[in-house]
Amino acid sequence: MKKTTTKTIREMKNSKKITVLTAYDYPTAKIIDESDCDIILVGDSLGNVVLGYPNTTYVTMEDMLHHTKAVARGANRALIVADMPFLSYHLGEYKAIENAGLLIQAGAGAVKLEGGECVAPIVRAITNAGIPVMGHLGLTPQSVNQFGGHLMQGKTEEQAKILIEDAKILEESGAFAVVLECIPPKLAAKITESISIPTIGIGAGPYCDGQVLVLHDMLGFYDDFTPSFVKKYANINNDIKQAVSQYIDEVQNGEYPK
Ligand code: KIV
Repeated sequence: MKKTTTKTIREMKNSKKITVLTAYDYPTAKIIDESDCDIILVGDSLGNVVLGYPNTTYVTMEDMLHHTKAVARGANRALIVADMPFLSYHLGEYKAIENAGLLIQAGAGAVKLEGGECVAPIVRAITNAGIPVMGHLGLTPQSVNQFGGHLMQGKTEEQAKILIEDAKILEESGAFAVVLECIPPKLAAKITESISIPTIGIGAGPYCDGQVLVLHDMLGFYDDFTPSFVKKYANINNDIKQAVSQYIDEVQNGEYPK
C-alpha cells in the first residue's frame, strides 16, 4: 500500500478531493488507516472530545506526544499530521522547531499550527528544519479567548481581505496545505483559487480542496452538542448506551454468561 506524503497531498489540488479525519488513539487510527482517508489529524480537539477540557488551550505537548505515538502505532498508510498545541510555537523559533521535531519523532509526518502573518516566521523556520507544516486560518480555536467564543470568522470585507492575505503568506512561508475553519463558503472558494497549496475546509462550505471532520462529531459520540455544519454518519452514543444497557440487563437477569 502506497504511503501518503505531503507531496501526494499537494498534487491532489485540482484533481481529487482530500479527505481528513481526526484520530487520537490506536484503534481509531487503525480503522481510518485501513480505509481510504488521506490524512489522519491528531488534532488538539483531543482536549475537547477525549480529555474533557473546556477548550484546546488546556492541551499540552505531553498530551499531543502521547496521542501521536498511539496513532502512529495504528497507521502506516495515511499521512499523520499532529497539531502543535497552545504556546508550543509562540516562544521563539528554537522552541517551535524543538516541539515540531518531537512530534515528528513521535510518528507524525507533518505538524499543524494556527495563525497567519504573525506565525509566518515560525512556519518558515520549521519548514527550513525539514518539517512539513499545515496552516490553519479562520476560527483558530487556540484563540477562543480573543474571539470571545467559537464564532464564525471572515464575515466582514476587512476580515476577508486579511484572511486571503494570510493564506498567501502561509504559502510563501512554506506551508504545504491550509485548514480553513468556519468561514463563509464564498471566502473559502476565493482563498482556494488564490493559492496553489490545497485548502482543507471545516464549516467552510464545499469549495475547498478537501474536508476535515472531528471523528467524535461525525460518529455522533455526544448527544448534547454537535457543531451545526457536522453531518453525523453514525450514532455511536446511542449504540454504546444500548449495548451497555443490554449487558447490565443480561448480567442482572443471569443471561450472561451462559
Ligand atoms: O484540532 C482539530 O481537530 C482541528 C480540526 C478541527 C481542523 O484542528
